[in-house]
Amino acid sequence: MKNTIIAPSLLACDFLNIEKEIAALELESNLWLHLDIMDGHFVPNLTFGHPIIKLIKAKTNLPLDAHFMVTNPQFHLETLKDVGLHIFTFHIEACERPLELIEQIKSYNIKAGISLRPGTPLESIDNETLKAVDLVLVMSVEPGFGGQGYIEGSTKRIETLAKRRQELKANFLIEVDGGINTETAKLAIAAGADALVAGSATFKGAPENYKNNIKNLRG
Ligand code: DX5
Ligand code: ZN
Repeated sequence: MKNTIIAPSLLACDFLNIEKEIAALELESNLWLHLDIMDGHFVPNLTFGHPIIKLIKAKTNLPLDAHFMVTNPQFHLETLKDVGLHIFTFHIEACERPLELIEQIKSYNIKAGISLRPGTPLESIDNETLKAVDLVLVMSVEPGFGGQGYIEGSTKRIETLAKRRQELKANFLIEVDGGINTETAKLAIAAGADALVAGSATFKGAPENYKNNIKNLRG
């Protein structure tokens, strides 16, 4: 069994008890906290911003997997570069020169991730970028909201990306985001995913169930 990384998306947690929600995940291995930052412009929805991210960082030792669904990722990188994010993922649709941004993220000792909407062709990420990046986040729902259904064609996209990775001898991780449950997790893992974002599937039932929910996703 592959030890797939699970990244619970805090979008689905009980925000008024966020400290307890995070504490329920603490000490779990191969676990990242997935932060969905939305600016009401790149996507219609709004979530949380820099002050909340800093407070979360102060409360946990789990690696922070930050997913920026924003029009201006550069601005957010500059503001958050010293916070201690593990990964900074931006959208290719929001960036004209992804390679430059990747180099800049890495220069701050943060891992660089690139994401694409379900409708964006995989070829829009060129080989040079794939070789430079630490992670590719494949959206398996239209970004903007938690709790949506997994888009079937995503499995094929993960396979194609995994094949390109092999051909290029590249090292990036493949993370899949949206509609992950025990069934779709199997499909994504078999197709080559190394990490799965899971919002609704993690924060289901009482906090004492979360670790078990995560275990079920690992298969
Ligand atoms: C969607 C976000 C996802 C979302 C996942 O825009 O990027 O991370 O919160 O939620 P679930 O796992 O509930 O589909
Ligand atoms: Zn996300």
